[in-house]
This record gives sequence, structure tokens and C-alpha cells, in this order.
Amino acid sequence: MDATFELRGVRVPRLVYGTAWKEERTAALTRQALDAGLRGIDTANQRKHYVEAGVGEALAAAGLPREQLYLQTKFTYARGQDHRLPYDPSAPLPAQVEQSFASSLAHLGVTRLDGYVLHGPETGRGLTDGDWQVWRAMEARHAAGDVALLGVSNVTAEQVRALLAGARVAPAIVQNRCYARTDWDAEVRALCRAHGLAYQGFSLLTANRAVAEGPALAAIAARLGATAAQVVFAFALRVGMMPLTGTSSRVHLDQDLAALALADRLTADDVAAIERAEA
Ligand SMILES: NC(=O)c1ccc[n+]([C@@H]2O[C@H](COP(=O)([O-])OP(=O)(O)OC[C@H]3O[C@@H](n4cnc5c(N)ncnc54)[C@H](OP(=O)(O)O)[C@@H]3O)[C@@H](O)[C@H]2O)c1
Repeated sequence: MDATFELRGVRVPRLVYGTAWKEERTAALTRQALDAGLRGIDTANQRKHYVEAGVGEALAAAGLPREQLYLQTKFTYARGQDHRLPYDPSAPLPAQVEQSFASSLAHLGVTRLDGYVLHGPETGRGLTDGDWQVWRAMEARHAAGDVALLGVSNVTAEQVRALLAGARVAPAIVQNRCYARTDWDAEVRALCRAHGLAYQGFSLLTANRAVAEGPALAAIAARLGATAAQVVFAFALRVGMMPLTGTSSRVHLDQDLAALALADRLTADDVAAIERAEA
């Protein structure tokens, strides 16, 4: 399988490096991922879980041409942040998006982003007036040419439908925690497929330990001479997802990248077996 694909005119890597929870190791681990060959980076302007400036440090040190990189970050509501906010929380939401976006560019040392994602809607159901204010502000950044693709994270199928119905700039990305027990987020993935959105799956290994360590995966892994983790990533790629990996290990980075080739070796029976593996 090719390492990249075209999404709304943008070259996007299928496998994306996630930079959450790395604290002072963010720069070194992001650099390690770039050195291993990953070209897609996911971060967030949410100091509680991410060090966006550390990603910027790694980008500067690696010195790769900007056009070879896919850089994606997020706007996070104040309730998802700690005291280290990238905006004035008393400012109206559109101004918060402006401030967060500008601060992301400064942290990353770039003049434009490839992807900009709403970290999560305000509530678990529907889209609030606040969500629309944020989305319109994101659309303004897109209209200005500061970001190529817009997306949303931690959403239900109903919320994606609402966004598709009301957006002026259609979302291009959904980023969700992907549980085997929801048939690997089948409803949201089907919606993404039908409307040409990329589905980015996270916690593929950590949210699905029983499946990843179960007999179906073990049998496929043994036959292919791969690890069970690689089979999970290969399956995700094969069914059209963009998997996120936040591994700290160089060996695992190489294994996760090798899942691209492994995806072509999964049979239709393998895919069906993984889809129905007991969660
Ligand atoms: N939008 C959101 O709200 C949200 C929420 C959570 C995460 N994310 C994004 O998704 C990224 C990934 O997060 P994640 O939740 O999927 O967890 P993760 O940080 O990628 O952790 C995955 C775990 O799997 C292990 N692993 C990775 N490759 C492996 C391999 N080939 N073999 C064996 N173990 C392997 C890692 O261990 P080693 O380090 O030892 O390899 C780690 O313990 C984050 O960094 C972030 O960018 C977004």
C-alpha cells in the first residue's frame, strides 16, 4: 500500500505519528519518528497532554522540506485544558480559535497547517452554538489559506452528520478512539467513506487489548510472520483508516511503518476474522 494518498487535493500520509503524553521527551521522540520516515504529525495546542513547541523543535532540527510534511493540530475548549491556556478564556470563542491557531503556528515554526481539528464538540450530543462559532472561525482560517483541511475529533455519527449538513467548508477528517467492540467505529467510518472524509483511528492497540492479544490475531500474525500489533495496524489501513501511533520505540516505529506492506497481504478472510474478533 502506498504510504500517502490524496485527500481533497492534499497529499496525506496514511500513518500518522501522535505526540500526546511525551512531555519533555516530545522533541526527541518526534525527531525519532521523522528519522524513521514518518511524515505525518498529529499534535494539539493543549499543554495538559501535548508539548506543541517540542514538536516544533523536532521539525526545526530535522530540517525536512515543508512540502514533505503533513502537520495537524487541534483547537481545544478551555474545559479540556489545564491552567496553561493558549488563549484568553474570557475572549469570545472565535477569538480563542484565532489566538490558539496563531500560537500553534508559532510553536510549530510554520506559516500554514495541513490539518486543523476541533478536539471535541462541547457536548456528547449534537453541535452547540459554541461548536458552530468555533467551526466558522476554523473555516475562516481555511478561507485565508492558512490551513488546507479541517476536521473534528471525538464525535458520534450524529455529530458528523450535523457538521456535514451545516458546514460551509466540509470536514475532511474525523479522528476518533477506535474500539473493536463498536465494530471498529463502523458507523462513523461508513459515514466518512460515503462523504470522502479520512478516518483517523487512535488507541487502536490500547483500547483493544483483548482482541490484539486474542487467538484470531495471533493466528494471522503467526502466518504472516508479524506481530499482533502490526496486524491491528495493517487491518486499520486495509479498511481505509489512517492509524495514529504514538510509540516511543524505534523498533515499533519500523514495525508500524511495515504494516503498510502487510496490509496488502491480509486476505478478505483475515479482515472478516478481525472484524468479528471478540472484544
Ligand atoms: N483526539 C483525541 O482526543 C486523542 C486522544 C488520544 C490520542 N490521540 C492521538 O493519537 C495518538 C496515539 O495515541 P494512542 O491512544 O493510540 O496511544 P499511543 O500513545 O500510540 O500508545 C500506543 C501503545 O502501543 C504501543 N505500540 C505502538 N506500536 C507498537 C508495536 N508495533 N508493537 C507493540 N506495541 C506498540 C506503545 O508502546 P511503545 O511506546 O513501547 O511502542 C504504546 O504503549 C496520540 O499521540 C495523539 O496524537 C488523540
